[in-house]
Amino acid sequence: MATQKLSSLLSVSATSASLRSLGRHFSWGRGINRFSTSVAIEEPITPPVQIDHTQLLINGQFVDAASGKTFPTLDPRTGEVIAHVSEGDTEDVNRAVSAARKAFDEGPWPKMTPYERSRILFRFADLLEKHNDEVAALETWDNGKPYEQAANVEIPMVTRLFRYYAGWADKIHGLTVPADGPYHVQTLHEPIGVAGQIVPWNFPLLMYAWKVGPALACGNTIVLKTAEQTPLSAMYVSKLFLEAGLPPGVLNLISGFGPTAGAAICSHMDVDKLAFTGSTNTGKIVLELASKSNLKPVTLELGGKSPIIVCEDADIDLAVENAHSALFFNQGQCCCAGSRTFVHERVYDEFVEKAKARALKRVVGDPFKKGVEQGPQIDGVQFKKILSYIRSGIESGATLESGGDSVGSKGYYIQPTVFSNVQDDMLIAKDEIFGPVQSILKFQTLDEVIRRANASRYGLAAGVFTKNINTANTLTRALKAGTIWINCYIVFDAAIPFGGYKMSGHGREKGIYSLSNYLQVKAVVTPLENPAWL
Ligand code: NAI
Ligand code: MG
Repeated sequence: MATQKLSSLLSVSATSASLRSLGRHFSWGRGINRFSTSVAIEEPITPPVQIDHTQLLINGQFVDAASGKTFPTLDPRTGEVIAHVSEGDTEDVNRAVSAARKAFDEGPWPKMTPYERSRILFRFADLLEKHNDEVAALETWDNGKPYEQAANVEIPMVTRLFRYYAGWADKIHGLTVPADGPYHVQTLHEPIGVAGQIVPWNFPLLMYAWKVGPALACGNTIVLKTAEQTPLSAMYVSKLFLEAGLPPGVLNLISGFGPTAGAAICSHMDVDKLAFTGSTNTGKIVLELASKSNLKPVTLELGGKSPIIVCEDADIDLAVENAHSALFFNQGQCCCAGSRTFVHERVYDEFVEKAKARALKRVVGDPFKKGVEQGPQIDGVQFKKILSYIRSGIESGATLESGGDSVGSKGYYIQPTVFSNVQDDMLIAKDEIFGPVQSILKFQTLDEVIRRANASRYGLAAGVFTKNINTANTLTRALKAGTIWINCYIVFDAAIPFGGYKMSGHGREKGIYSLSNYLQVKAVVTPLENPAWL
């Protein structure tokens, strides 16, 4: 379904008719409500939603943290408190894990028929669809992403993903194995047990879906920790899970901090599997905690510094628009952001001019306002970090083509920033900035750009713009990355696997590939009584 793909929203060819086919009247609004990025941000718009859920979910009950503590979640538009939510810690994680353990070992979930599990997941997806706009508003309020993006693309993608995995729940098959000798051999694909899942703040509910969907479809139970910056949407939808008939203890939700609640999940001896999305540094800690406890298997989806290669024969307008959204989408806070744009020397000047013009037109503003393409960064920490990378780009001699500063006096808004003449050894070309900072580099030959594109500790994604099938095929095979987008970027779908090479992570999420993260394979061998029928 094309409309579920982010690129359909982002690409220049997207029409409002195709977006309306989502069932929502979406207008990207190019040319309307547009203001220069230097214009101050107005008073924040009141979000169209109330906050009703701020507690932990343990064993089917919404409860306060054992310590009684709470912590504030902030509005990135102002830095002000939206709500105080329960601060889970080790004792809450222990309770949640024992509820999940009981629900797995004794409870109905793994024992239900796959069809019954599938029906609960479908019912949840229906409820989520019904509450799409409230959930999207919570996501925007807590994270700062444009409401139109959340309501028209992201939350519908979450619903789609749950339907995709609901469809898998009753299609998980083992094999019959043709072994040598008089034996009947089969494999059973069984759920692993209690899954510990830790998600980041950049796509709070989408990352929840990538993890919860396959884990539940395979019959596991869950303890999930949200990111401390964005706890609200998961709290809201977890109530919908109870309404959909999910038995108590199957999905437990902890809000809290990484070094306390997060580490308690990773170290727990009764957690059988871990899935983590976040920074590479925290990924290393997660892996270490898993190895120091019970050697639980770990799926990691980490950072990136993904290259985009614009060849001399590329459709330049297509490349400019895609490279723009590849970097600036979600305020630049994407693990797969196209953050090193290599452009062939023959089309370099034209590309830089057009990339700059596009960035200058980017609509920055209150994410609840129609037509806004870019809201604030998530918090003050990221805001300062991004501004310091911008300073480092200027100091290291890259050419600042646009932006370079914050916007307004409140909140965490940053101008869409474009650097040209970026060199491989500059910090802005090496580190994951996770902000609206595009780096454009020049190349001459294919061999050279392959070597430079691969000279990174990351390997999450890559983009290629060319009209030549042989160039596309060469780059597809030569680039060391988990996803290669040819003449497009950020095309996501529930069925397309996602994950990284090198320090971008271990394993794949989404599609059929995610099922194996949540299944054990048991070989069953039975002697055949009458070998004559072998
Ligand atoms: P982070 O990796 O520390 O946080 C992600 C999740 O891990 C959160 O839920 C956090 O509470 C949890 N966590 C933190 N420390 C933990 C620990 N010791 N044990 C268990 N869980 C722990 O990322 P952070 O600090 O929010 O952002 C820093 C940088 O990470 C960003 O600037 C960006 O470069 C990168 N990042 C990458 C993401 C991706 O999608 N790959 C998402 C978020 C951040
Ligand atoms: Mg927040």
